[in-house]
Amino acid sequence: MKQTLKVNCEKEYLIEISDNSFEKLNQEINEATKGQKRLFVISKKVYKLYYTRLNFSEDEVFVLNDGEKEKNYKNYLKIIERAQQIGLSRKDVMIAIGGGVVGDITGFAASTYMRGIDFIQVPTTLLSAVDSSVGGKTAIDLADAKNIIGTFYQPKVVFININFLATLDKKQFLSGLGEVLKYAFIEESCGHTHPLYLFEFLTLGCEKIMQKEPLTMIRMIEYCLSLKIAVVNQDEKEGGLRKVLNFGHTLGHALETITKYNKFTHGEAVVYGMYFIIKWAYNHEYVGYTYYRLSMELLEKYGFKPLKKKFPKEKLIELMMKDKKASEGKITFIIPCDKKKVKEIKLTPVEAGYMFDE
Ligand code: GLY
Repeated sequence: MKQTLKVNCEKEYLIEISDNSFEKLNQEINEATKGQKRLFVISKKVYKLYYTRLNFSEDEVFVLNDGEKEKNYKNYLKIIERAQQIGLSRKDVMIAIGGGVVGDITGFAASTYMRGIDFIQVPTTLLSAVDSSVGGKTAIDLADAKNIIGTFYQPKVVFININFLATLDKKQFLSGLGEVLKYAFIEESCGHTHPLYLFEFLTLGCEKIMQKEPLTMIRMIEYCLSLKIAVVNQDEKEGGLRKVLNFGHTLGHALETITKYNKFTHGEAVVYGMYFIIKWAYNHEYVGYTYYRLSMELLEKYGFKPLKKKFPKEKLIELMMKDKKASEGKITFIIPCDKKKVKEIKLTPVEAGYMFDE
């Protein structure tokens, strides 16, 4: 089965979601890169598991160690140097095969190498399939600021092959589900032409989703990306609407940073951020009890729980103030305001501090 979606922002491109064979995937990559010199940047884990099934020669490959810590300027420079070594020209292409880290750093390298060359995304994790591979955000991190260096740079095409999900461990799968659940909470704020009923789909389909049933996976990814595309088509550069995609992310990013990117997966941190902000919005009567209960039930259905561990609130606030979304001395939070709807609020550091006292 294959579903094709189209992104219509400044640059048009296709996203293919399928359970095609690896042979077919190789063919598609070959066709999309015909006549081009290629540099494949691939996650070490994926390389070890799939190199016999993927079609590239050893000198076309840059293997990147796994983990958010690898999304740094040293590895960025290594990719650029490698591109230069193998003689990539302006007409050539970089291909990211891996999760969000590989996609983000490769996209950033492609967008800056010779002022921008072609770039293809082949996401292999659920998180990168439903979020980071689409929409053109590329980035590297600094030690205390995630995604602080980056560009908006759309790929030429995105090939999502759900066969990669078979070897995704439970922790990484749940991380992706964290972002999937996010879309359920923001659906009606995405400006999609018609309802997709993602909240209901995730409630009823939990068992099949947890079993990674192929058709359900394809449909779930299609729903999430349809919502993301609706947002990106209207606001590619995050002037306004795109901020809704950051539901759960303000605290989420701070938690990832305060733990030096090695305690929580991104999706897990986003789930903690969603628990936190839903509870706060309920306490402050932005949403009622029914919303609160249904939201908690959905998160719990997937085995998630609120964060128990406490972190120093002063440090969290300091990190949230460093977030790209902070402006005019205020921290931006995306809060729920109705079932499937969210809105933006800005709080001073002092006001945000009170959130942690509740
Ligand atoms: N991951 C959020 C965005 O693409 O805007």
